[in-house]
Amino acid sequence: MSTDNKRPGSGGEPADPPRQPSRRRFLQSAAAAATVGAAPHLRAQTPNPAAPPAAEVRAPVPPRPVTLSVNGRAYTLQLEPRVTLLDALREYAGLMGTKKGCDRGQCGACTVLADGRRINACLTLAVMHEGEAITTVEGLATSGASGALSPLQRAFIEHDAFQCGYCTPGQLCSATALLNEFRNGTASTVTADVRRRPPQLSDDEIRERMSGNICRCGAYANIVAAVRATHDGAGSGSNNSNNNGNA
Ligand code: FES
Repeated sequence: MSTDNKRPGSGGEPADPPRQPSRRRFLQSAAAAATVGAAPHLRAQTPNPAAPPAAEVRAPVPPRPVTLSVNGRAYTLQLEPRVTLLDALREYAGLMGTKKGCDRGQCGACTVLADGRRINACLTLAVMHEGEAITTVEGLATSGASGALSPLQRAFIEHDAFQCGYCTPGQLCSATALLNEFRNGTASTVTADVRRRPPQLSDDEIRERMSGNICRCGAYANIVAAVRATHDGAGSGSNNSNNNGNA
């Protein structure tokens, strides 16, 4: 192989060195580019002196006994403080009727009653509810051998107020509280004069008061009809003496 750098026809003067990058130069450039690309990552790895040590953040908090009163029965559960009421009911107490939909307070599938107030069980910690009377969908029917459904539950069946049924436990708990709230004179944002008791439970009142419970099947019209029927006492075999039956 010739090592002559003279260009043909150049009159014998030495030729310029080749302008293609050498292999060495290419490898140097690639290494420099890799270093620049990795710089943000390296910065992210740099410990922040203001942040608490990782061991401190990850220190496990030991479970402790938490006693919940659910549907009239006491459950003593070993729970970490971070366990939500929803997970405590489903995963620790074995009450799977309460459903987990979004797990972030948007769908209402996890609605239960705490001392009669409807709450999203996914947004609250179990340890916050010791001493309260929790009611889940399993507690809406009459306890005892008969296990009779509440008037609201019967109305949901009669009015076909569900399709897949996933949201139904939350809808039932929410509507149970709704009827009690209305009976106690609680106004809503569609009540014309919030200084007075709402004069009647209109469909607008029901829709507004049930707006925190989403039904992806779209059974809203039938849910409103079922709630209205229960309120009007038109649900089959309505029983006003049942606290869980509402109205
Ligand atoms: Fe709690 Fe959706 S699961 S609001």
